[in-house]
Amino acid sequence: MANNTYSFKIYAILVLCLMLISCQSDKNPNPSKSAASNQQAKPIVLKEAFKERYRVGTAMSLVQIMGEEPDTLSLVTSQFNSVTPENSMKWERIHPERNKYKFKASDTLVEFSNQNKLFLVGHTLVWHSQTPDWVFQQADGSPSDRKALLETMRLHIEAVAGRYDGKIQAWDVVNEALNEDGSLRSSKWHEIIGDDYLEHAFAMAAKASPHAKLYYNDYNLFKPEKRQGVIRLVKRLQSKGIPIHGVGLQAHYALDYPDLNEFEDSIKAFAALGIDVMITELDVSVLPFPDEENQGADVSLNLALQSKFDPYPNQLPESVELQLAQRYMEIFSVLNRNAKLIDRVTFWGVHDKQSWRNGWPMQGRHDYPLLFDRSLKQKAFVKALPQAGL
Ligand code: G3I
Repeated sequence: MANNTYSFKIYAILVLCLMLISCQSDKNPNPSKSAASNQQAKPIVLKEAFKERYRVGTAMSLVQIMGEEPDTLSLVTSQFNSVTPENSMKWERIHPERNKYKFKASDTLVEFSNQNKLFLVGHTLVWHSQTPDWVFQQADGSPSDRKALLETMRLHIEAVAGRYDGKIQAWDVVNEALNEDGSLRSSKWHEIIGDDYLEHAFAMAAKASPHAKLYYNDYNLFKPEKRQGVIRLVKRLQSKGIPIHGVGLQAHYALDYPDLNEFEDSIKAFAALGIDVMITELDVSVLPFPDEENQGADVSLNLALQSKFDPYPNQLPESVELQLAQRYMEIFSVLNRNAKLIDRVTFWGVHDKQSWRNGWPMQGRHDYPLLFDRSLKQKAFVKALPQAGL
């Protein structure tokens, strides 16, 4: 009975979405007239609509941070109450050489987010990817040993997290340290330092930035084996008294991926550890995925472009937009009914044009995974998301 009521509500809201979508396309048959429909669409304000439930955040690209997309900046401050730099605080960007730090973009973002009272999440201190080779070498070019790499890690965390203590509210301290089966990924960090490299990273971050919340962040955490890997990791840190304040589920999803029951189970399991749970990199691809084995967010995947995998180069057909609406409704049903367990929901980008999904796992595609389209117009179905599942 409860299930029937729930299905009816989803159905009713989908009908509303369909009406909103077709109403918008009637008014705006030509996508180049999007500025006009922008005025007609009456967007909701996300941070207001969800303020009793969780923060709503977005990732900001370098050009956005540097003010080169002023309209996007207005959208960020009007719609969101949390931001994460999409790339600008990654090791290769902020600390490209042993004695060279590049803080311009991060300083700008810190100022922007502090001025606008946005909850700023630093991303990320320790990751196997986007980390220059020198990090794993000693000054003379020979391979680092455990002691040398721990010292490099400490200097980096002190310089970066320490610089912004009190100004960056939270850090993704370690990113993507687990394999799909929940075991520790064999990265250079793991190979050289050993199993305890995460413990050192969290302890160093706590020392360098005692005011920040410290998170573990990863993709495909809906998978039961990977979920267990996170639980083991968090419990190990907790048992040693090393601070870990939350887990971020990245949520790079698609129309049929993943099983949202498993996603919900992971949210509940992480919350049961007594820590914050965040959805940190939400997007929903509408494109066919060329490699079923590798869905998720392994950035090393790089396939040759084939037009059959880029079916909507000019415009998203209404029928697919409805599927996207339905998928977002299902995801927000899970989020809304677990709102008490969730601290933040961050989208991995402000608008479709910015999305990394256009370039992964093959460059040059046209995806539509976010809540704002290429002309910064809020998609029609967004209005229905606050009611999803309620
Ligand atoms: O800025 C340079 C540009 O100057 C150059 O001409 C161009 C040539 O390829 O590259 C540009 O940099 C690219 C950058 O995105 C900005 O577009 C990098 O090559 C590309 O590797 C980088 O991809 C980022 C990826 O992480 C790797 O760092 C994506 O934007 C970013 O969305 C993605 O984010 C990750 C999260 O950090 C962790 N979780 C998965 C998520 C998606 O992969």
